[in-house]
Amino acid sequence: MTDNKYDLVVIGGGPGGYVAAIRAAQLGMQVACVEKRGALGGTCLNVGCIPSKSLLHSSEEFEKAEHHLADLGIKTGGVSLDLKTMLGVKDKVVGELTQGIEYLFKKNGIGYIKGAGRIESADTVAVNNGNKTTQTLTAKKILIATGSEAAPLPGLEIDEKRIVTSTGALALSKVPKHMVVIGAGVIGLELGSVWRRLGAEVTVIEFLDRITPEMDGEVAKTLRRILKKQGFDFKLSTKVTGGSTTKSGVTLTIESLKKGKTEEIKADVVLVSVGRKPHTEGLGLELVGVDLDNLGRIVTDDHFRTSIPSIYAIGDVIAGPMLAHKAEDEGMVCAEMMAGQSGHINYDAIPGVIYTSPEVAAVGATEEQLKEDGVDYTVGKFPFAANARAKIVSGGEGFVKILADTASDRVLGVHIVGSDAGNMIGEAVLAMEYGASAEDIARTCHAHPTEMEALKEAALDVAERAIHI
Ligand code: FAD
Ligand code: NAI
Repeated sequence: MTDNKYDLVVIGGGPGGYVAAIRAAQLGMQVACVEKRGALGGTCLNVGCIPSKSLLHSSEEFEKAEHHLADLGIKTGGVSLDLKTMLGVKDKVVGELTQGIEYLFKKNGIGYIKGAGRIESADTVAVNNGNKTTQTLTAKKILIATGSEAAPLPGLEIDEKRIVTSTGALALSKVPKHMVVIGAGVIGLELGSVWRRLGAEVTVIEFLDRITPEMDGEVAKTLRRILKKQGFDFKLSTKVTGGSTTKSGVTLTIESLKKGKTEEIKADVVLVSVGRKPHTEGLGLELVGVDLDNLGRIVTDDHFRTSIPSIYAIGDVIAGPMLAHKAEDEGMVCAEMMAGQSGHINYDAIPGVIYTSPEVAAVGATEEQLKEDGVDYTVGKFPFAANARAKIVSGGEGFVKILADTASDRVLGVHIVGSDAGNMIGEAVLAMEYGASAEDIARTCHAHPTEMEALKEAALDVAERAIHI
Protein backbone atom coordinates (compact mmCIF):
# COMPACT_ATOMS: atom_id res chain seq x y z
CA MET A 1 0.00 0.00 0.00
CA THR A 2 1.59 3.31 -1.06
CA ASP A 3 0.81 6.80 0.24
CA ASN A 4 -2.74 8.04 -0.33
CA LYS A 5 -3.98 4.62 -1.53
CA TYR A 6 -6.46 2.93 0.76
CA ASP A 7 -8.88 0.04 0.86
CA LEU A 8 -11.42 2.35 2.48
CA VAL A 9 -11.75 6.12 2.79
CA VAL A 10 -14.41 7.23 5.28
CA ILE A 11 -15.74 10.79 4.94
CA GLY A 12 -16.90 12.02 8.36
CA GLY A 13 -15.45 11.13 11.76
CA GLY A 14 -18.71 10.91 13.77
CA PRO A 15 -20.06 7.82 15.58
CA GLY A 16 -20.92 6.23 12.23
CA GLY A 17 -17.66 7.03 10.47
CA TYR A 18 -15.15 6.47 13.26
CA VAL A 19 -16.70 3.15 14.31
CA ALA A 20 -16.72 1.95 10.68
CA ALA A 21 -13.06 3.00 10.34
CA ILE A 22 -12.03 1.09 13.48
CA ARG A 23 -14.00 -2.05 12.56
CA ALA A 24 -12.62 -2.01 8.99
CA ALA A 25 -9.06 -1.67 10.34
CA GLN A 26 -9.70 -4.57 12.75
CA LEU A 27 -10.72 -6.61 9.70
CA GLY A 28 -7.40 -5.88 7.98
CA MET A 29 -8.28 -2.96 5.69
CA GLN A 30 -6.01 0.06 5.15
CA VAL A 31 -8.28 2.92 6.23
CA ALA A 32 -8.27 6.73 6.20
CA CYS A 33 -10.93 8.95 7.74
CA VAL A 34 -11.45 12.49 6.47
CA GLU A 35 -12.95 14.96 8.95
CA LYS A 36 -13.39 18.70 8.46
CA ARG A 37 -14.34 20.01 11.93
CA GLY A 38 -10.84 19.77 13.42
CA ALA A 39 -11.84 17.09 15.92
CA LEU A 40 -13.09 13.52 15.68
CA GLY A 41 -16.37 12.35 17.21
CA GLY A 42 -18.80 14.19 14.92
CA THR A 43 -21.93 15.98 16.04
CA CYS A 44 -22.39 13.51 18.89
CA LEU A 45 -19.16 14.11 20.77
CA ASN A 46 -18.58 17.76 19.82
CA VAL A 47 -21.98 19.48 19.74
CA GLY A 48 -24.59 16.79 20.42
CA CYS A 49 -25.07 13.84 22.77
CA ILE A 50 -22.07 14.43 25.02
CA PRO A 51 -22.09 18.20 25.69
CA SER A 52 -25.88 18.13 26.07
CA LYS A 53 -25.72 15.28 28.58
CA SER A 54 -22.96 17.07 30.50
CA LEU A 55 -25.14 20.18 30.83
CA LEU A 56 -28.23 18.08 31.60
CA HIS A 57 -26.34 16.37 34.42
CA SER A 58 -24.85 19.57 35.86
CA SER A 59 -28.10 21.53 35.63
CA GLU A 60 -30.02 18.69 37.29
CA GLU A 61 -27.53 18.68 40.17
CA PHE A 62 -27.90 22.47 40.42
CA GLU A 63 -31.67 22.25 40.57
CA LYS A 64 -31.45 19.47 43.16
CA ALA A 65 -29.11 21.50 45.34
CA GLU A 66 -31.25 24.62 44.95
CA HIS A 67 -34.70 23.13 45.45
CA HIS A 68 -34.79 19.45 46.38
CA LEU A 69 -31.99 18.45 48.77
CA ALA A 70 -33.73 20.29 51.62
CA ASP A 71 -36.67 17.87 51.17
CA LEU A 72 -34.28 15.05 52.15
CA GLY A 73 -33.10 16.92 55.22
CA ILE A 74 -29.92 18.23 53.58
CA LYS A 75 -29.44 21.93 54.15
CA THR A 76 -26.98 23.44 51.70
CA GLY A 77 -27.23 27.15 52.47
CA GLY A 78 -27.16 29.56 49.54
CA VAL A 79 -26.67 27.83 46.20
CA SER A 80 -25.34 29.88 43.31
CA LEU A 81 -24.48 29.17 39.72
CA ASP A 82 -20.99 29.34 38.24
CA LEU A 83 -21.95 28.95 34.59
CA LYS A 84 -18.41 29.41 33.31
CA THR A 85 -17.20 26.41 35.31
CA MET A 86 -20.24 24.36 34.27
CA LEU A 87 -19.52 25.07 30.59
CA GLY A 88 -15.83 24.33 31.23
CA VAL A 89 -16.65 20.89 32.64
CA LYS A 90 -18.62 20.15 29.47
CA ASP A 91 -15.77 21.33 27.23
CA LYS A 92 -13.24 19.24 29.19
CA VAL A 93 -15.30 16.06 28.80
CA VAL A 94 -15.73 16.74 25.09
CA GLY A 95 -11.99 17.38 24.66
CA GLU A 96 -10.99 14.20 26.47
CA LEU A 97 -13.45 12.03 24.54
CA THR A 98 -12.55 13.40 21.10
CA GLN A 99 -8.84 12.92 21.92
CA GLY A 100 -9.76 9.38 22.89
CA ILE A 101 -10.94 8.69 19.34
CA GLU A 102 -7.63 10.02 17.96
CA TYR A 103 -5.86 7.54 20.25
CA LEU A 104 -8.07 4.71 18.94
CA PHE A 105 -7.23 5.73 15.35
CA LYS A 106 -3.49 5.57 16.13
CA LYS A 107 -3.90 2.23 17.88
CA ASN A 108 -5.68 0.79 14.83
CA GLY A 109 -3.33 2.35 12.23
CA ILE A 110 -6.07 4.55 10.72
CA GLY A 111 -5.04 7.66 8.79
CA TYR A 112 -6.78 10.77 10.21
CA ILE A 113 -6.94 13.31 7.40
CA LYS A 114 -8.08 16.80 8.38
CA GLY A 115 -10.12 18.68 5.81
CA ALA A 116 -13.32 18.60 3.75
CA GLY A 117 -13.69 15.54 1.54
CA ARG A 118 -15.24 15.69 -1.90
CA ILE A 119 -15.84 12.63 -4.05
CA GLU A 120 -14.23 13.15 -7.46
CA SER A 121 -14.94 9.72 -8.92
CA ALA A 122 -16.03 6.23 -7.81
CA ASP A 123 -12.57 5.69 -6.30
CA THR A 124 -11.08 9.10 -5.49
CA VAL A 125 -11.67 11.62 -2.73
CA ALA A 126 -10.16 15.11 -2.85
CA VAL A 127 -9.45 16.69 0.54
CA ASN A 128 -9.30 20.44 0.98
CA ASN A 129 -7.79 21.43 4.31
CA GLY A 130 -8.28 25.15 3.90
CA ASN A 131 -4.87 25.70 2.33
CA LYS A 132 -4.55 26.09 -1.41
CA THR A 133 -3.35 22.49 -1.79
CA THR A 134 -5.72 19.60 -2.31
CA GLN A 135 -4.80 16.08 -1.35
CA THR A 136 -6.18 13.25 -3.45
CA LEU A 137 -6.89 9.89 -1.86
CA THR A 138 -7.52 6.75 -3.88
CA ALA A 139 -9.80 4.12 -2.37
CA LYS A 140 -11.25 0.77 -3.35
CA LYS A 141 -14.29 1.74 -1.31
CA ILE A 142 -15.62 5.10 -0.08
CA LEU A 143 -17.96 5.43 2.91
CA ILE A 144 -20.04 8.59 3.34
CA ALA A 145 -20.75 9.26 7.02
CA THR A 146 -21.23 13.01 6.91
CA GLY A 147 -24.15 13.09 9.35
CA SER A 148 -26.70 15.86 9.64
CA GLU A 149 -27.11 19.53 10.51
CA ALA A 150 -29.86 21.62 12.09
CA ALA A 151 -32.79 22.30 9.77
CA PRO A 152 -33.38 26.03 9.32
CA LEU A 153 -36.69 27.80 9.81
CA PRO A 154 -37.41 30.20 6.93
CA GLY A 155 -37.57 33.81 8.12
CA LEU A 156 -35.29 33.30 11.13
CA GLU A 157 -31.60 33.89 10.63
CA ILE A 158 -29.39 31.80 12.90
CA ASP A 159 -26.59 33.87 14.51
CA GLU A 160 -25.87 31.32 17.30
CA LYS A 161 -26.19 34.13 19.87
CA ARG A 162 -29.81 35.33 19.90
CA ILE A 163 -31.31 32.86 17.44
CA VAL A 164 -29.50 29.61 18.03
CA THR A 165 -29.46 25.98 17.00
CA SER A 166 -28.51 23.33 19.56
CA THR A 167 -24.85 24.27 18.97
CA GLY A 168 -25.38 27.84 20.23
CA ALA A 169 -27.67 26.63 23.02
CA LEU A 170 -24.83 24.49 24.37
CA ALA A 171 -22.58 27.52 24.81
CA LEU A 172 -24.70 30.48 25.99
CA SER A 173 -22.49 32.69 28.15
CA LYS A 174 -25.37 33.74 30.37
CA VAL A 175 -28.71 32.32 31.41
CA PRO A 176 -31.46 33.91 29.28
CA LYS A 177 -34.37 35.43 31.16
CA HIS A 178 -36.80 34.09 28.59
CA MET A 179 -35.91 31.35 26.12
CA VAL A 180 -38.34 30.48 23.35
CA VAL A 181 -37.87 27.00 21.94
CA ILE A 182 -39.34 26.31 18.50
CA GLY A 183 -40.14 22.59 18.18
CA ALA A 184 -41.17 20.31 21.06
CA GLY A 185 -38.90 17.46 19.96
CA VAL A 186 -35.90 15.88 21.63
CA ILE A 187 -33.50 18.83 21.36
CA GLY A 188 -36.09 21.41 22.42
CA LEU A 189 -37.08 19.49 25.55
CA GLU A 190 -33.54 18.51 26.58
CA LEU A 191 -31.93 21.93 26.09
CA GLY A 192 -35.08 23.71 27.28
CA SER A 193 -34.69 21.65 30.50
CA VAL A 194 -31.06 22.72 30.91
CA TRP A 195 -31.80 26.45 30.73
CA ARG A 196 -35.04 26.23 32.73
CA ARG A 197 -33.17 24.49 35.56
CA LEU A 198 -30.54 27.22 35.47
CA GLY A 199 -33.20 29.92 35.82
CA ALA A 200 -34.70 30.74 32.41
CA GLU A 201 -38.40 30.99 31.76
CA VAL A 202 -38.99 28.58 28.86
CA THR A 203 -41.79 28.74 26.29
CA VAL A 204 -42.04 25.96 23.72
CA ILE A 205 -43.82 26.58 20.43
CA GLU A 206 -44.90 23.45 18.60
CA PHE A 207 -46.62 23.20 15.24
CA LEU A 208 -48.47 19.97 16.08
CA ASP A 209 -51.10 19.50 18.81
CA ARG A 210 -48.73 17.29 20.86
CA ILE A 211 -45.09 17.12 21.89
CA THR A 212 -42.51 14.53 20.70
CA PRO A 213 -44.51 13.24 17.71
CA GLU A 214 -42.51 10.00 17.38
CA MET A 215 -43.31 8.91 20.91
CA ASP A 216 -46.21 6.82 22.24
CA GLY A 217 -49.13 9.23 22.78
CA GLU A 218 -49.75 8.33 26.43
CA VAL A 219 -46.06 8.76 27.26
CA ALA A 220 -45.93 12.12 25.47
CA LYS A 221 -48.99 13.33 27.39
CA THR A 222 -47.45 12.28 30.71
CA LEU A 223 -44.14 13.95 29.87
CA ARG A 224 -45.91 17.15 28.89
CA ARG A 225 -47.84 17.22 32.16
CA ILE A 226 -44.65 16.70 34.19
CA LEU A 227 -42.66 19.31 32.26
CA LYS A 228 -45.53 21.78 32.63
CA LYS A 229 -45.41 21.24 36.38
CA GLN A 230 -41.69 22.01 36.24
CA GLY A 231 -42.46 25.36 34.64
CA PHE A 232 -42.39 24.77 30.86
CA ASP A 233 -45.00 26.79 28.99
CA PHE A 234 -46.25 24.93 25.89
CA LYS A 235 -47.93 26.64 22.97
CA LEU A 236 -49.12 23.74 20.82
CA SER A 237 -50.79 23.96 17.39
CA THR A 238 -48.89 27.19 16.94
CA LYS A 239 -46.76 28.39 14.10
CA VAL A 240 -44.02 31.00 13.98
CA THR A 241 -44.74 33.39 11.14
CA GLY A 242 -41.76 35.74 11.48
CA GLY A 243 -39.13 37.20 13.73
CA SER A 244 -36.85 40.18 14.15
CA THR A 245 -33.70 40.57 16.21
CA THR A 246 -32.66 43.65 18.16
CA LYS A 247 -29.66 44.15 20.44
CA SER A 248 -31.71 43.17 23.45
CA GLY A 249 -33.54 40.17 22.06
CA VAL A 250 -35.87 38.65 19.51
CA THR A 251 -39.52 39.32 18.77
CA LEU A 252 -41.41 36.47 17.16
CA THR A 253 -44.83 36.61 15.62
CA ILE A 254 -46.82 33.46 16.22
CA GLU A 255 -50.19 32.25 15.03
CA SER A 256 -52.50 29.80 16.76
CA LEU A 257 -53.51 27.23 14.14
CA LYS A 258 -56.78 26.44 15.93
CA LYS A 259 -58.00 29.97 16.71
CA GLY A 260 -56.21 31.84 13.91
CA LYS A 261 -55.09 34.38 16.53
CA THR A 262 -51.78 36.17 15.95
CA GLU A 263 -49.55 37.50 18.75
CA GLU A 264 -46.02 38.67 19.44
CA ILE A 265 -43.69 36.97 21.84
CA LYS A 266 -40.37 38.37 23.06
CA ALA A 267 -37.34 36.32 24.00
CA ASP A 268 -33.71 36.85 24.96
CA VAL A 269 -32.77 33.70 23.08
CA VAL A 270 -34.70 31.63 20.53
CA LEU A 271 -33.71 27.99 20.05
CA VAL A 272 -34.66 26.63 16.64
CA SER A 273 -35.04 22.86 17.04
CA VAL A 274 -37.37 21.77 14.26
CA GLY A 275 -35.43 18.70 13.15
CA ARG A 276 -32.16 17.95 11.38
CA LYS A 277 -31.34 17.45 7.71
CA PRO A 278 -28.77 15.18 6.07
CA HIS A 279 -25.39 16.77 5.41
CA THR A 280 -24.60 16.19 1.72
CA GLU A 281 -23.53 19.61 0.46
CA GLY A 282 -20.15 19.89 -1.23
CA LEU A 283 -19.63 16.13 -1.40
CA GLY A 284 -19.77 15.97 -5.19
CA LEU A 285 -22.66 13.50 -5.17
CA GLU A 286 -24.30 14.92 -8.30
CA LEU A 287 -20.99 14.63 -10.12
CA VAL A 288 -20.56 10.91 -9.44
CA GLY A 289 -24.27 10.08 -9.57
CA VAL A 290 -25.11 9.09 -5.98
CA ASP A 291 -28.92 9.12 -5.66
CA LEU A 292 -30.80 11.01 -2.94
CA ASP A 293 -34.42 10.48 -1.84
CA ASN A 294 -37.06 13.23 -1.65
CA LEU A 295 -35.86 14.17 1.88
CA GLY A 296 -32.27 14.65 0.68
CA ARG A 297 -31.02 11.40 2.29
CA ILE A 298 -28.58 9.14 0.45
CA VAL A 299 -30.39 6.08 -0.89
CA THR A 300 -28.77 2.77 0.10
CA ASP A 301 -29.57 -0.91 -0.26
CA ASP A 302 -29.55 -3.34 2.69
CA HIS A 303 -25.73 -3.56 2.43
CA PHE A 304 -25.40 0.27 2.72
CA ARG A 305 -24.35 0.48 -0.96
CA THR A 306 -25.41 3.65 -2.78
CA SER A 307 -26.32 3.81 -6.46
CA ILE A 308 -22.53 3.66 -7.13
CA PRO A 309 -21.32 0.17 -6.09
CA SER A 310 -17.99 1.29 -4.55
CA ILE A 311 -19.62 4.07 -2.51
CA TYR A 312 -21.44 3.31 0.75
CA ALA A 313 -23.33 5.49 3.25
CA ILE A 314 -24.41 5.17 6.89
CA GLY A 315 -25.73 7.16 9.89
CA ASP A 316 -27.74 10.38 9.87
CA VAL A 317 -27.11 10.91 6.16
CA ILE A 318 -29.29 7.88 5.26
CA ALA A 319 -32.85 6.90 6.27
CA GLY A 320 -33.78 5.90 9.82
CA PRO A 321 -33.66 7.52 13.24
CA MET A 322 -30.94 10.15 13.67
CA LEU A 323 -29.30 8.51 16.67
CA ALA A 324 -25.66 7.92 17.56
CA HIS A 325 -26.10 4.24 18.45
CA LYS A 326 -27.91 3.59 15.15
CA ALA A 327 -25.02 5.26 13.28
CA GLU A 328 -22.45 3.22 15.29
CA ASP A 329 -24.18 -0.08 14.63
CA GLU A 330 -24.46 0.73 10.93
CA GLY A 331 -20.75 1.63 10.87
CA MET A 332 -19.79 -1.69 12.40
CA VAL A 333 -22.10 -3.78 10.21
CA CYS A 334 -21.19 -1.88 7.03
CA ALA A 335 -17.45 -2.57 7.58
CA GLU A 336 -18.21 -6.25 8.21
CA MET A 337 -20.29 -6.48 5.02
CA MET A 338 -17.47 -4.78 3.05
CA ALA A 339 -15.17 -7.52 4.34
CA GLY A 340 -17.55 -10.18 3.04
CA GLN A 341 -19.09 -11.01 6.41
CA SER A 342 -22.80 -11.00 7.07
CA GLY A 343 -24.02 -8.26 9.37
CA HIS A 344 -27.26 -7.67 11.21
CA ILE A 345 -29.22 -4.67 12.41
CA ASN A 346 -32.71 -5.05 13.79
CA TYR A 347 -34.35 -1.71 13.06
CA ASP A 348 -37.35 -2.77 15.16
CA ALA A 349 -35.18 -2.85 18.28
CA ILE A 350 -33.38 0.50 18.27
CA PRO A 351 -33.99 2.33 21.54
CA GLY A 352 -34.65 6.05 21.83
CA VAL A 353 -34.08 8.05 25.01
CA ILE A 354 -34.98 11.62 25.94
CA TYR A 355 -32.77 12.77 28.80
CA THR A 356 -35.28 15.06 30.48
CA SER A 357 -36.12 14.65 34.14
CA PRO A 358 -37.70 12.14 34.37
CA GLU A 359 -36.17 10.39 31.38
CA VAL A 360 -38.26 8.86 28.64
CA ALA A 361 -37.17 5.72 26.83
CA ALA A 362 -38.78 3.54 24.22
CA VAL A 363 -38.14 0.59 21.95
CA GLY A 364 -40.39 -0.97 19.32
CA ALA A 365 -43.91 -0.04 18.34
CA THR A 366 -46.13 2.61 19.93
CA GLU A 367 -49.84 1.98 20.58
CA GLU A 368 -50.65 4.35 17.71
CA GLN A 369 -48.51 2.30 15.28
CA LEU A 370 -50.04 -1.01 16.39
CA LYS A 371 -53.55 0.39 15.95
CA GLU A 372 -52.66 1.69 12.51
CA ASP A 373 -51.22 -1.72 11.53
CA GLY A 374 -54.31 -3.51 12.88
CA VAL A 375 -52.26 -5.60 15.35
CA ASP A 376 -54.16 -7.17 18.24
CA TYR A 377 -52.11 -6.22 21.31
CA THR A 378 -52.35 -6.35 25.10
CA VAL A 379 -51.09 -3.60 27.41
CA GLY A 380 -49.26 -4.27 30.68
CA LYS A 381 -48.59 -1.19 32.81
CA PHE A 382 -46.95 -0.49 36.12
CA PRO A 383 -46.60 2.90 37.88
CA PHE A 384 -43.31 3.85 39.54
CA ALA A 385 -45.43 5.13 42.45
CA ALA A 386 -45.79 1.45 43.43
CA ASN A 387 -42.06 0.70 43.04
CA ALA A 388 -40.10 1.07 46.28
CA ARG A 389 -36.77 2.18 44.78
CA ALA A 390 -38.37 4.73 42.45
CA LYS A 391 -40.32 6.21 45.35
CA ILE A 392 -37.08 6.66 47.31
CA VAL A 393 -34.99 7.97 44.43
CA SER A 394 -37.38 10.16 42.50
CA GLY A 395 -40.76 10.29 44.21
CA GLY A 396 -42.26 7.63 41.93
CA GLU A 397 -43.15 9.65 38.86
CA GLY A 398 -44.03 7.86 35.61
CA PHE A 399 -44.68 4.27 34.52
CA VAL A 400 -43.56 1.31 32.44
CA LYS A 401 -45.80 0.15 29.61
CA ILE A 402 -45.33 -3.09 27.71
CA LEU A 403 -47.21 -3.83 24.51
CA ALA A 404 -47.41 -7.54 23.73
CA ASP A 405 -48.93 -9.43 20.83
CA THR A 406 -52.22 -10.82 22.15
CA ALA A 407 -51.93 -14.16 20.38
CA SER A 408 -48.23 -14.96 20.90
CA ASP A 409 -47.43 -12.74 23.95
CA ARG A 410 -44.30 -11.54 22.07
CA VAL A 411 -43.12 -8.10 23.22
CA LEU A 412 -43.78 -5.53 20.48
CA GLY A 413 -42.91 -2.32 22.29
CA VAL A 414 -41.79 -0.99 25.67
CA HIS A 415 -42.26 2.62 26.81
CA ILE A 416 -40.91 4.06 30.03
CA VAL A 417 -41.21 7.45 31.74
CA GLY A 418 -39.09 7.45 34.87
CA SER A 419 -35.90 8.71 36.44
CA ASP A 420 -33.66 5.91 35.11
CA ALA A 421 -35.62 5.04 31.95
CA GLY A 422 -32.54 5.38 29.69
CA ASN A 423 -30.72 2.57 31.49
CA MET A 424 -33.84 0.47 32.04
CA ILE A 425 -34.69 0.29 28.35
CA GLY A 426 -31.58 -1.86 27.78
CA GLU A 427 -33.28 -4.92 29.24
CA ALA A 428 -36.32 -4.38 27.03
CA VAL A 429 -34.12 -4.04 23.93
CA LEU A 430 -32.34 -7.29 24.75
CA ALA A 431 -35.68 -9.00 25.37
CA MET A 432 -37.01 -7.85 22.00
CA GLU A 433 -33.76 -8.78 20.23
CA TYR A 434 -34.21 -12.33 21.53
CA GLY A 435 -37.91 -12.40 20.63
CA ALA A 436 -38.99 -12.59 24.27
CA SER A 437 -42.59 -12.85 25.39
CA ALA A 438 -43.98 -10.73 28.24
CA GLU A 439 -44.04 -13.96 30.26
CA ASP A 440 -40.26 -14.41 29.69
CA ILE A 441 -39.67 -11.01 31.34
CA ALA A 442 -42.20 -11.76 34.07
CA ARG A 443 -40.45 -15.06 34.96
CA THR A 444 -36.97 -13.48 35.06
CA CYS A 445 -35.73 -12.71 38.57
CA HIS A 446 -35.17 -8.97 39.12
CA ALA A 447 -33.13 -7.63 42.05
CA HIS A 448 -34.99 -5.90 44.87
CA PRO A 449 -35.26 -3.01 45.45
CA THR A 450 -34.59 -1.74 41.90
CA GLU A 451 -36.57 0.29 39.42
CA MET A 452 -36.19 -2.67 37.03
CA GLU A 453 -38.82 -4.49 39.08
CA ALA A 454 -41.37 -2.17 37.46
CA LEU A 455 -40.56 -3.77 34.11
CA LYS A 456 -41.21 -7.22 35.55
CA GLU A 457 -44.48 -6.01 37.11
CA ALA A 458 -45.59 -4.46 33.79
CA ALA A 459 -44.84 -7.82 32.13
CA LEU A 460 -46.91 -9.58 34.82
CA ASP A 461 -49.68 -7.06 34.19
CA VAL A 462 -49.90 -8.17 30.54
CA ALA A 463 -51.49 -11.33 31.98
CA GLU A 464 -53.31 -9.29 34.65
CA ARG A 465 -51.27 -10.75 37.49
CA ALA A 466 -49.08 -7.87 38.71
CA ILE A 467 -48.44 -8.24 42.44
CA HIS A 468 -48.03 -4.69 43.68
CA ILE A 469 -51.04 -2.98 42.05
P1 FAD B 1 -22.20 13.07 12.68
O1 FAD B 1 -22.00 12.76 14.10
O2 FAD B 1 -22.97 14.28 12.32
O3 FAD B 1 -20.74 13.16 12.05
C1 FAD B 1 -20.52 13.53 10.73
C2 FAD B 1 -19.17 14.20 10.64
O4 FAD B 1 -18.88 14.39 9.25
C3 FAD B 1 -19.13 15.59 11.26
O5 FAD B 1 -18.10 15.66 12.21
C4 FAD B 1 -18.86 16.52 10.09
O6 FAD B 1 -17.97 17.59 10.43
C5 FAD B 1 -18.18 15.59 9.10
N1 FAD B 1 -18.30 15.99 7.70
C6 FAD B 1 -19.43 16.39 7.04
N2 FAD B 1 -19.13 16.64 5.75
C7 FAD B 1 -17.82 16.40 5.60
C8 FAD B 1 -16.93 16.47 4.50
N3 FAD B 1 -17.34 16.82 3.27
N4 FAD B 1 -15.63 16.16 4.71
C9 FAD B 1 -15.18 15.79 5.94
N5 FAD B 1 -15.97 15.70 7.00
C10 FAD B 1 -17.28 16.00 6.83
N6 FAD B 1 -28.11 10.80 19.54
C11 FAD B 1 -28.20 9.86 20.49
O7 FAD B 1 -28.22 8.66 20.16
N7 FAD B 1 -28.24 10.17 21.82
C12 FAD B 1 -28.21 11.46 22.24
O8 FAD B 1 -28.25 11.71 23.44
C13 FAD B 1 -28.13 12.48 21.27
N8 FAD B 1 -28.10 13.77 21.64
C14 FAD B 1 -27.99 14.74 20.68
C15 FAD B 1 -27.98 16.07 21.08
C16 FAD B 1 -27.89 17.08 20.14
C17 FAD B 1 -27.87 18.51 20.60
C18 FAD B 1 -27.79 16.75 18.77
C19 FAD B 1 -27.66 17.83 17.73
C20 FAD B 1 -27.81 15.43 18.34
C21 FAD B 1 -27.92 14.42 19.30
N9 FAD B 1 -27.97 13.07 18.94
C22 FAD B 1 -28.07 12.11 19.90
C23 FAD B 1 -27.89 12.66 17.53
C24 FAD B 1 -26.45 12.20 17.18
O9 FAD B 1 -25.55 13.24 17.46
C25 FAD B 1 -26.37 11.81 15.71
O10 FAD B 1 -27.37 10.86 15.41
C26 FAD B 1 -25.01 11.19 15.40
O11 FAD B 1 -23.97 12.09 15.70
C27 FAD B 1 -24.94 10.80 13.93
O12 FAD B 1 -23.69 10.24 13.65
P2 FAD B 1 -23.06 10.32 12.19
O13 FAD B 1 -21.73 9.67 12.31
O14 FAD B 1 -24.02 9.82 11.19
O15 FAD B 1 -22.87 11.88 11.89
P1 NAI C 1 -37.35 16.39 16.37
O1 NAI C 1 -37.71 15.79 15.08
O2 NAI C 1 -37.15 15.53 17.56
O3 NAI C 1 -38.44 17.48 16.81
C1 NAI C 1 -38.75 18.55 16.00
C2 NAI C 1 -40.08 19.12 16.48
O4 NAI C 1 -40.28 20.36 15.83
C3 NAI C 1 -41.28 18.25 16.16
O5 NAI C 1 -42.10 18.14 17.28
C4 NAI C 1 -41.96 18.99 15.01
O6 NAI C 1 -43.35 18.77 14.96
C5 NAI C 1 -41.62 20.42 15.37
N1 NAI C 1 -41.65 21.36 14.25
C6 NAI C 1 -41.21 21.16 12.99
N2 NAI C 1 -41.37 22.29 12.25
C7 NAI C 1 -41.89 23.22 13.09
C8 NAI C 1 -42.26 24.59 12.96
N3 NAI C 1 -42.10 25.22 11.80
N4 NAI C 1 -42.76 25.24 14.02
C9 NAI C 1 -42.91 24.60 15.23
N5 NAI C 1 -42.59 23.30 15.41
C10 NAI C 1 -42.07 22.63 14.36
O7 NAI C 1 -36.03 17.26 16.05
P2 NAI C 1 -34.95 17.91 16.99
O8 NAI C 1 -35.47 18.08 18.37
O9 NAI C 1 -34.46 19.10 16.25
O10 NAI C 1 -33.82 16.79 17.02
C11 NAI C 1 -33.20 16.36 15.80
C12 NAI C 1 -32.70 14.97 15.91
O11 NAI C 1 -31.63 14.88 16.82
C13 NAI C 1 -33.77 14.01 16.37
O12 NAI C 1 -34.17 13.25 15.26
C14 NAI C 1 -33.14 13.15 17.37
O13 NAI C 1 -33.11 11.84 16.92
C15 NAI C 1 -31.70 13.66 17.51
N6 NAI C 1 -31.46 13.88 18.94
C16 NAI C 1 -31.50 12.81 19.79
C17 NAI C 1 -31.35 12.99 21.13
C18 NAI C 1 -31.43 11.81 22.02
O14 NAI C 1 -31.36 10.70 21.54
N7 NAI C 1 -31.58 11.99 23.33
C19 NAI C 1 -31.12 14.30 21.72
C20 NAI C 1 -31.15 15.36 20.75
C21 NAI C 1 -31.29 15.13 19.41
